[in-house]
Amino acid sequence: MSQGQRRLAAIMFTDIVGYTSLSQHNEALALRLLHEHRKVVRSLISRYQGNEIKTIGDAFLVDFKSALDAINCAYEIQGALHEYNSNRDAEETIKVRIGIHVGDVVHTENDVYGDAVNLASRIEAIAEPGGIAISEQVHDNIRNKVEFPLEYIGPQDLKNVDAPMGIYRVCFPWDKGISREQAVLEIVQMMQTSPKEVPYPTPMFDRESERAFLVSALDEVVGTGKFKLIFIRGEAGIGKTRLLDWITHEAQERYGVYVGRGYCLEDVSVPYFPFSEALNGLLHRGSNDQGTKRALNWLDRALRRTFAEEGEEFECYKLYENMAKLLETISRENPVLIRLEDVQWSDSASLGLLHYLARNIQNSRVLMICTYRIEELGELAPGRPHNLTETMRLMTREGLFQTIELRGLESEALTDLTGSLIPGAPKRVLQLVARESEGNPFYAIESTRFLIETGVIEKVEGAWAARMPSGQIEIPNAILDVISRRLSRLAPEDRQLLDCASVIGEHFNPKILSTALGIDELSCVQRLARLYRETWLVVEDRMGYRFDHAKVREAVYRGLTGSLAKELHRRVARAMSNVKDSSLAVEIAYHYHQSGDAAKAIEFGMVAGNQAKLMSVFIEAVSSYTLVLEAAGVDGERIELRAKAYAGRAEALHEQGLHQKAMEDCKNALSLSKEPSTRLNALRVLAGSYLGIGHFSEALEIVRQADAEPGEETLERLYLKDIEEAIIARRSGYSATTEAVREISRAFLKLGRRKDYAYAILTVAEHEMMTKLPPDFFQVVKEASDIFEESGDLAGQQFVHAMIAEYYFTKGDVALSAENYSEAVNLNKKLGLYDGILWATWYWAMLYENAGLYNDAIRVALDGLGSATIAEAPYPESGIYATLARCYLRINSCDEANKALRRMNELYEAHSKDASAGLQGMVERARAFNLAFEGRKEDADRAYANSIDLLKRFGMWIHEAEAHREYGELLLEQKRLKEARSQFEASLILFASVENVPGAERVRNSLSRASSSGQP
Ligand SMILES: Nc1ncnc2c1ncn2[C@@H]1O[C@H](COP(=O)(O)OP(=O)(O)O)[C@@H](O)[C@H]1O
Ligand SMILES: [Mg+2]
Repeated sequence: MSQGQRRLAAIMFTDIVGYTSLSQHNEALALRLLHEHRKVVRSLISRYQGNEIKTIGDAFLVDFKSALDAINCAYEIQGALHEYNSNRDAEETIKVRIGIHVGDVVHTENDVYGDAVNLASRIEAIAEPGGIAISEQVHDNIRNKVEFPLEYIGPQDLKNVDAPMGIYRVCFPWDKGISREQAVLEIVQMMQTSPKEVPYPTPMFDRESERAFLVSALDEVVGTGKFKLIFIRGEAGIGKTRLLDWITHEAQERYGVYVGRGYCLEDVSVPYFPFSEALNGLLHRGSNDQGTKRALNWLDRALRRTFAEEGEEFECYKLYENMAKLLETISRENPVLIRLEDVQWSDSASLGLLHYLARNIQNSRVLMICTYRIEELGELAPGRPHNLTETMRLMTREGLFQTIELRGLESEALTDLTGSLIPGAPKRVLQLVARESEGNPFYAIESTRFLIETGVIEKVEGAWAARMPSGQIEIPNAILDVISRRLSRLAPEDRQLLDCASVIGEHFNPKILSTALGIDELSCVQRLARLYRETWLVVEDRMGYRFDHAKVREAVYRGLTGSLAKELHRRVARAMSNVKDSSLAVEIAYHYHQSGDAAKAIEFGMVAGNQAKLMSVFIEAVSSYTLVLEAAGVDGERIELRAKAYAGRAEALHEQGLHQKAMEDCKNALSLSKEPSTRLNALRVLAGSYLGIGHFSEALEIVRQADAEPGEETLERLYLKDIEEAIIARRSGYSATTEAVREISRAFLKLGRRKDYAYAILTVAEHEMMTKLPPDFFQVVKEASDIFEESGDLAGQQFVHAMIAEYYFTKGDVALSAENYSEAVNLNKKLGLYDGILWATWYWAMLYENAGLYNDAIRVALDGLGSATIAEAPYPESGIYATLARCYLRINSCDEANKALRRMNELYEAHSKDASAGLQGMVERARAFNLAFEGRKEDADRAYANSIDLLKRFGMWIHEAEAHREYGELLLEQKRLKEARSQFEASLILFASVENVPGAERVRNSLSRASSSGQP
């Protein structure tokens, strides 16, 4: 090769799929196709100035001057062949795989050599038929220069290549993409192979009743096809995982269930991590099939954070729905067991998903079992319950799960357990261990291993014996100490391996471990395998390697000195950044932070915070920004970065309704930042938070301040405008802002913010409805609904139903209105949006009340209150009590009415300060009715006048009309005919203005009664 010339080149490798076998059974056809194919390929190569180096049978090796030429050429080749194939029978089609790589090659007279050539052919081999695969290097060269999309398919193992390479595929317009059905099918196929179980060192003892409970739950799930969720709780080492493994095995033996396993990370919380693991556990069966990979990709994109990155609007309900559908579909095929371990460390997003699934896949053959440690469920902050406690509190109310509480094993079971490890050992030793471990099997096992390793007991002629009287045997009395003493006996290089693994976590990837330690991966795995055999400190399972128990990891980690821990965190962070998986940002930030590398911690922490925010995972966003702020310190440097982190955290807090804390952060951001984008962002969140706590003047003031600030930031300014209009609407009634909101909606559309646009046009329609029925109402609703449908926004869909219901309410069509309220309530129940349930319930009940269907109104009200008493939504709740009280009075249930009124007053008094004029008017109406009922005429008159005034001011016409009618009827009973008539007339005018025919009809009846009783 000495005469060769080394240079950089783009190498393209093409190969016909299945050519060899075709030429074996139909040579003539094969030759004809080969010829056709060459014609196509050659003409295109020359167009892109490719240099055809050689053909090898049906393969082409071509070299291009640039990666861009290579990929464009490849794209056209596949395009031409696609067209060629499109009108031919299957056996006549030509499918080609193409691989491209750039790198150094050595040119000789009529050939090229070099790694790049080999790599291109390996890459070609993993392209799908009719597809193009390219290396990361090619991607770096052509990024943003090609017109077609590229999709990252992850690091791939290439034949005869040491390290996996990052590979992209080209997406063609004719790719259909993978449908959900297809994905499910492929997933189901992948799940057929049965998993490898880790053998246990001891047989299973005790736990009879728990096992019986789990088996009957399993039978029930399989038998009735109904979902079940079970929590197993207990302290570390008590046997949760063991019990779970037992039922898993049982379920596979009895019913061949598919199993998904997930666990939670201790130190960092990655959104959806346990679910993502559970699915990957189901799916990763080492299949190299392209369809399979794409199915995985589809799920991965949803569960990991890549949607956010690709700039797509992420809608968690879409993920929820898809996950629910997926489980439903799979479980139709076969029962499914999903097991999630150590959910005390779960991220909040997973808990949200868990809650949703528990509520919405009731008719699936899915058994879901979660384990958690009670001792870790402390409050996160004073007054702030642990995520899991909170989720379980909500789920308890809905009766969504059952719990198994694991306590220590009986001492007899425990001596049997220890005895099975050291058969023949003296009873006194077994009893000593049992006593010391207080029923905790993990402690017992570790202590026994400790005694063996320290030579306190040894095997003499086939039986275990103690070398000293039991009074002298000493076992450390904390489990961590037992483990530490065992660890201290390890060889230095083994200890080093575990040290680094403990920094990664309970589960660790040997690849990252070996990279971090700078050792060969193979020898790393060999050492782990030996540790597994000899010490059982680590075990190998289907997901890779892990510590035998979280406590072992904890003991190892605690044994690290500060400087060693720092160094190891730094190495792990670096090893993880090499993986180029952006979903690792949270973990990388954490490790850099622990290593003291502030700059990197900030860099990755910001990425993680922004990702989490875009995915609406706000609790995790707050932690990432907090990490950034901690790393940034207060050294007077990195001022703008800190301001950004404050603003980011403020937004995440605001989204969780933690307005006060959000406001503090906004103020910090504003005091630090000079950048318009950060300032406007902080001002917008600040104004929103003031609005959130009902401080309208302050909110308006902030809006004004923002107006005076420099900077474009169109979107932030739009949101500010939106806030301003919301305040105006609350103060001066809906109609005051209709035009402005319409304007805002157009601006959202221009910026491509389709969901914001949809909400804005619905708001306009809602405002308009207060004065007249908008002629284009259904068009608007359809447009918004389509947008929600497309983005999977179920919360938006419930808004649509509530709006349609309100439309028919206004028009007086009880049946259609009720139908839509019911739909809105159901959607809210499904989503767990409790205040949404209350709002829809209230209006629904009023609808029935107005129609004189008091019993229906009471039923709906009680039902809504029952399913939503945990909501903190005082306004609709007090409104429901107001309606309820009136209806009870109408049917003469005075005691019930009084109870409802009391509750209404309590709620109202506690919250009236922030209530809108509209709500005040509604509550005032209930009070008025009650006063009249009690015969306090003058008070009632005043209250009615006041109520009607408030309702009018707020533009709630239909309710104003009802108040006039109600008041009129009371006046009629009091024989104040003239006054009654004028109330009815006022009511009629309002009903007429919204074309509410039935409403008007009812008033006209009353009016005629008023007129006829006026006659002598
Ligand atoms: N009922 C049991 N019979 C025998 N061994 C058990 C039993 N329960 C737990 N163990 C053993 O005790 C150790 C700790 O149990 P594990 O299930 O990992 O605890 P947890 O998940 O509650 O922390 C494991 O080695 C396990 O095999
Ligand atoms: Mg466990």
